[in-house]
Amino acid sequence: MKKIVILGTGFGSYSLIRDLDMNRHQVVLISPRNYFLFTPLLPSTAVGTLEFRSIIEPIRRINPRLTYYHARALSINFDARVVHCQAVKSPERFSVSFDTLVIGVGATPNTFGIPGVRKYASFLKELWDARKLRNLILNRFEMAALPQIEAPEQKRLLHTVVVGGGPTGIEFAAEIHDFLLKDVCCTYPQLKQKVRITLLEAGPTILGSFDTKLRTRAYQLFKRQHIDIRLGTAVTKISRTYLDLASGERVDYGILLWATGNAPRRFSKALDLPKDHHGFILVDDHLQIPNRDQVFALGDCAVVEGKALPASAQVAMQQGKYLAKQFNSGKTDTPFKFRMLGMMAYVGEDQALVDTGTFKGSGHLAWFFWRSAYLTRLVRWRNKIKVIVDWIMTTIFGRDTSQF
Ligand code: NAI
Repeated sequence: MKKIVILGTGFGSYSLIRDLDMNRHQVVLISPRNYFLFTPLLPSTAVGTLEFRSIIEPIRRINPRLTYYHARALSINFDARVVHCQAVKSPERFSVSFDTLVIGVGATPNTFGIPGVRKYASFLKELWDARKLRNLILNRFEMAALPQIEAPEQKRLLHTVVVGGGPTGIEFAAEIHDFLLKDVCCTYPQLKQKVRITLLEAGPTILGSFDTKLRTRAYQLFKRQHIDIRLGTAVTKISRTYLDLASGERVDYGILLWATGNAPRRFSKALDLPKDHHGFILVDDHLQIPNRDQVFALGDCAVVEGKALPASAQVAMQQGKYLAKQFNSGKTDTPFKFRMLGMMAYVGEDQALVDTGTFKGSGHLAWFFWRSAYLTRLVRWRNKIKVIVDWIMTTIFGRDTSQF
């Protein structure tokens, strides 16, 4: 039986292990994250619209027949065909041999080497980022509500700055706007007038990958929601309580989300493999790494040579499905072909943007479509029910603002 070792538990690995024929392969999965995270709904957890456990699923439950190691890969010896690993919760190190290797380790937030980003900014890539962010938001409100806090400091604490006008930044700004509109007014009525949201985007537009009309719609809606969008505004340095712009201006903040796209992980950068100029692993149109027999890469850590595919969940999912089909059939003649299913983004106040090629729309109907589409794509019935219950609870009772 061929031994397939898979690194990572993101969208690519998830769809691969879901479809692999376990009677034909021995499958070993190695990842420091022992659950699959449905990242498209991550911004909703950062403000409490959804609960964290509603959007995750233990990886062993997705395919109980695989062998899973709760560890991180440290390095790969391609000649000896072994992966060297480090256990997550103990100092133990071990090695795993492979016949076929699939690297799906994802990416990390791109800081562009800007000073202070790693130290002071919040991110929205992993569940622990969302949990940290939710606590930070609640902490800022509780601090601002203390009796000795003066008005200028209150204003700073309650200023949310989002850096990056891509889908992550936009969806977080929309979620925090909803939180302020629907919950802060009742939970912290005295602070209502002091909250502000600013979105800083270095480029000439927000949501650059969306249709122009939809982008304009999002822009108008954000303006109406009093979210201050500043285009052509690059951040150059972050300090504990303020950030510097390229123009020389200084902006105070209490909550800062950094959402400026992806960069390769240190692990994938260190691998002795062909890379593009950013350091992402280069694969051919069969997702195979050139000159490395039976070594594949998929998802955000990889770039298909000559193709500009977005770093999105649907690309990774289709790649996982493709590899499973190839491995199951033993045939390798068909190249990977990405089918664009469309793009969606939540823009606040129960409105969304949907661009599927055949349907382009925005507003409440698009939001209904957005919710239905994500519901159908959620892993299991358990997740679907939990998410529906969270949505209903939030609508009726508001978001939970307890901090622990
Ligand atoms: P992104 O790469 O889409 O956008 C990042 C933005 O940050 C860019 O517009 C860039 O001009 C701006 N930026 C870069 N440096 C800056 C600086 N110093 N100051 C101010 N602005 C700066 O990043 P995002 O949103 O994190 O998404 C990453 C990937 O995930 C993308 O491929 C995206 O399409 C995908 N994604 C898709 C979602 C959806 O379709 N709903 C949701 C979340 C992510």
